[in-house]
Amino acid sequence: MEGYPMRNGGRIAILVAPGREDALTMAEILVLYYSRGGSVARLARQIARGVGEVPGMSARLRTVPPVAAVTQAAQPPVPDDGAPYVSVQDLAECEGLLLGSPTRFGNMAAPMKHFLDTLGAEWVNGTLAGKPAGVFTSTASMHGGQESTLLSMQLPLLHHGCLIVGIPFTEPALSHTRSGGTPYGASHVAGTADDPQPSEEEAQLARALGRRVADIARRLCA
Ligand SMILES: Cc1cc2nc3c(=O)[nH]c(=O)nc-3n(C[C@H](O)[C@H](O)[C@H](O)COP(=O)(O)O)c2cc1C
Repeated sequence: MEGYPMRNGGRIAILVAPGREDALTMAEILVLYYSRGGSVARLARQIARGVGEVPGMSARLRTVPPVAAVTQAAQPPVPDDGAPYVSVQDLAECEGLLLGSPTRFGNMAAPMKHFLDTLGAEWVNGTLAGKPAGVFTSTASMHGGQESTLLSMQLPLLHHGCLIVGIPFTEPALSHTRSGGTPYGASHVAGTADDPQPSEEEAQLARALGRRVADIARRLCA
């Protein structure tokens, strides 16, 4: 029996015949990123593909606005293009989280850190507690600080009670990659070329991380 969609937290439940409910229940993974030049955004799309490869799971892509020294110069409420800006409702509704930022001096970019620093109430309320989370980044250079960025992005997620998910060496591309892709999270060495695309291994590992977070979230939901 076909039914109608209802929103209930992060899940969209479709009414179906008794005993078939699980077949049509969708849960969402929030893929939240900041990208100035597009490299992290490309990685985010691969991660979202991986999320969508897990039955019953879909990705919700969101970004954060840039920050400026003159904070009175407010951004429009909706970006001109790309993913919508994140809201705290997105954090409440997701069943898992993937957080992406360019590497800036071996650390995450200020706009992502600024957004995380606004989440005091969500920290107190445990909005993200118990949800699986992974991280991803892009750098210009091979040894420009991917691991330090990924590990430091995990720290606030641990404070929020997230279950940190990495990429295991059972993923063959982790042993073969000659550029990005780490056990700490997905990554891309963008270099300085115009319009750099993730290598095959970087893309595979990004999809693997998306799949892994989505699969763990699905099991936890069950
Ligand atoms: C202020 C600043 C600091 C940066 N720091 C680093 C760094 O520490 N290591 C590195 O390899 N690349 C560094 N980069 C380069 C970016 O990480 C790289 O271009 C990244 O791919 C940008 O991602 P996006 O295209 O999504 O904005 C820096 C770039 C800027 C603007």
